[in-house]
Amino acid sequence: MANFPRAALMASIGCVSLFVGHADAQTAWRAETLLQKMTLEEKLGQLVQRAGGRSKALNSRLDDAELERVRAGQVGSYLHVAGAEPLAKLQKVAVEESRLGIPLLFAMDVVHGYRTIFPVPVAMASTWRPESIEAAARVAAVEASSAGLHWTFAPMIDIARDPRWGRIVEGAGEDPYLGAQLAIAQVRGYQGADLSRPDTIMATAKHFGAYGAAIGGRDYNSADISERTLHEVYLPPFYAAAKAGAASFMSAFNDIGGVPTTANRALARTLLREQWGYQGVLISDWNAIAELLAHGVAADRSAAASLALQASVDMDMVGAIYEQDLKSALEKDPDLVKLLDEAVLRLLHAKEALGLFDRPMQYHDVRREKRSLLAPRHRELARSVARESIVLLKNEGGVLPLRAENLRKLAVVGALASDGLSMLGSWRAQGRAEEVVTILQGFERAAPKGLEIAYAAGADPRNDDTSGIAAAVELVESADATVLVIGEHFDLSGEARSRADIGIPASQLELAREVLATGKPVVVVLANGRPLAMPWLAEHAPAILETWMLGVEAGPAIADVVFGKVSPGGRLPAAFPRASGAVPLFYAGNPTGRPADPDLSKDTARYMDQPITPLFPFGHGLSYTTFDYSNLDIDRERVAADEEVTIAVTVRNSGSVAGDEVVQLYVRDPVASVARPVMELRGFKRVTLSPGEAQRVSFRLNPRQLALFGLDRQWRVEPGRIDVMIGSSSADIRATGAFEISKALVSDVPATAIATAVTVERVASGHE
Ligand code: NOJ
Repeated sequence: MANFPRAALMASIGCVSLFVGHADAQTAWRAETLLQKMTLEEKLGQLVQRAGGRSKALNSRLDDAELERVRAGQVGSYLHVAGAEPLAKLQKVAVEESRLGIPLLFAMDVVHGYRTIFPVPVAMASTWRPESIEAAARVAAVEASSAGLHWTFAPMIDIARDPRWGRIVEGAGEDPYLGAQLAIAQVRGYQGADLSRPDTIMATAKHFGAYGAAIGGRDYNSADISERTLHEVYLPPFYAAAKAGAASFMSAFNDIGGVPTTANRALARTLLREQWGYQGVLISDWNAIAELLAHGVAADRSAAASLALQASVDMDMVGAIYEQDLKSALEKDPDLVKLLDEAVLRLLHAKEALGLFDRPMQYHDVRREKRSLLAPRHRELARSVARESIVLLKNEGGVLPLRAENLRKLAVVGALASDGLSMLGSWRAQGRAEEVVTILQGFERAAPKGLEIAYAAGADPRNDDTSGIAAAVELVESADATVLVIGEHFDLSGEARSRADIGIPASQLELAREVLATGKPVVVVLANGRPLAMPWLAEHAPAILETWMLGVEAGPAIADVVFGKVSPGGRLPAAFPRASGAVPLFYAGNPTGRPADPDLSKDTARYMDQPITPLFPFGHGLSYTTFDYSNLDIDRERVAADEEVTIAVTVRNSGSVAGDEVVQLYVRDPVASVARPVMELRGFKRVTLSPGEAQRVSFRLNPRQLALFGLDRQWRVEPGRIDVMIGSSSADIRATGAFEISKALVSDVPATAIATAVTVERVASGHE
């Protein structure tokens, strides 16, 4: 890496060494010594992860037979288990009654909170505030670790550009730069500065490969993408997570161009481990080693075991292939023995890093568990993150905020308004519906004296029962204003919940049509797990808030925004299409030889029946105030390899209430050896401004952030002009400029994994 201070670059990609403070010589020696003592069966046992229950019935499989397996050293880890006390029993057997006393790893999908459920990940991504996301992950780790857990299968950092894919709800949306920054934030939050502390847990960057690129948006389906797209779009969040010290990775279920990631040696062993230097644990997804047979790349279970081990998959989640069939693979191919030892060592190191050899019972303090779960300050954070997640899609004529003091009767309409379970979304860990403050309850609590809150369900979001619509319309007619809550029931997004038609479900849309037909003031609150194709609603509803599924504090957060206690400042992390047929859809596409032209007499890259633009673009989100941008300054015209360029702009709150603006920096390389996207995010900052206040936001870029994955598979920075665009969304650019890269260079870091340093300086104070 010529001419560039490597330490500075490593710092900018959030690089920390794996297992901070714990991969020291003594523990490494202890793991090695242990390995020497292990029988083949004991080694295989370390690679086995068993289900101690089901995701919705934790611990349900922990019977005497399981204790016996642990005693015999046949298990390395359990998933779908929880609880300081029940897991203490299991851990005690492992450390006190098994021959070598190796502790177990307890794992669970703690994806957006453990008991205090935060907004679903796509909602948290809408905050565009990594600090908030890190804080939420920290709370999740504090709670989960108090309940006996060492390991979460999160964050999911798969880029998702096709909202038919139900798992878009679990990630950070369509953009690799935003995705990489939020991946780092979550790894930091879960793991803290020291994994051996009792309140930190191992994070899992998943699902390594290109899981989000499943063809047709069908979960588990093949991905068939170019090598360039793989490296420039799908892999950078994984690179960022690895460098941030993620203690584990999970391989994706699906294949890329015929190679399932669980058997992809080039991707996992060569790229991840050898080139990126990743030393953590790689676990398969559920039964994914066994599924190599169904993929058609392994003739039998022993071949599947061999392929996965060669790819450097260390742990077999549930499939029992390593447990039952790796032995025969080792007999056929003695070269695998070395790989087996490496895998065992990586798992032992993880246990060391967690402090499990020295303090195996530190995660089993029942009093700590009691104190920590749903602690008041955890709820408080859940409320503030929920507020920050809300995106104001439309606000015609300033319908919002509603002035509660001017209303006598407010109708809250829609069954999702009283559905606590739906607010928890996919992966609710130990979240409980009865602990959710529903949207209806949020309004009831927030209503000032004299304001009546009346509720009607209207239509059932789970089916086509619309029998309640007439009563709902009657209520709307009798009220001064209505909050209409519609969208997707929680079970329409998440794993294996892909939809071909991503419109608003029929019963919900019918309810909206009838309610809006009254002509009374209506505010639409959307609750859903994916960008929706909703052209009718976008045209006819005067005000729309995207609230996704906001967790335990959904109601208070939404009431805060609707009543104007806070101004919404969230931004879309993925575009909303005009029609299901318009996906995949993303802002960072390449230009074509024939750019879309609305004139249908010309043959261009457009649809005949509608514009190719999104309904709501990436980065979009309105506010109750307005912001103006001025004085864009780029501090140098030409940038050499070892230099940086600073791009600064002044943002002023030009309205009359305080609000948050997300300042977004996009770049474009207009001429290169391969076509470059029309624009790419390379920096963002959410700032809070009081009325009249102005802040100068400065982004510092280095040329490596403009590298492309070249025709020769090298990260190449090419000389020439770079266009700069700063604005309020990908479709609302307020200032433009350019600089020039003066010299070619070769980099070794995915461009979007490098963080842009941002500084903010107040240049005018507000009048508040
Ligand atoms: C399958 C999912 O793909 C993965 O994300 C999850 O962590 C495992 N099941 C375990 O629940």
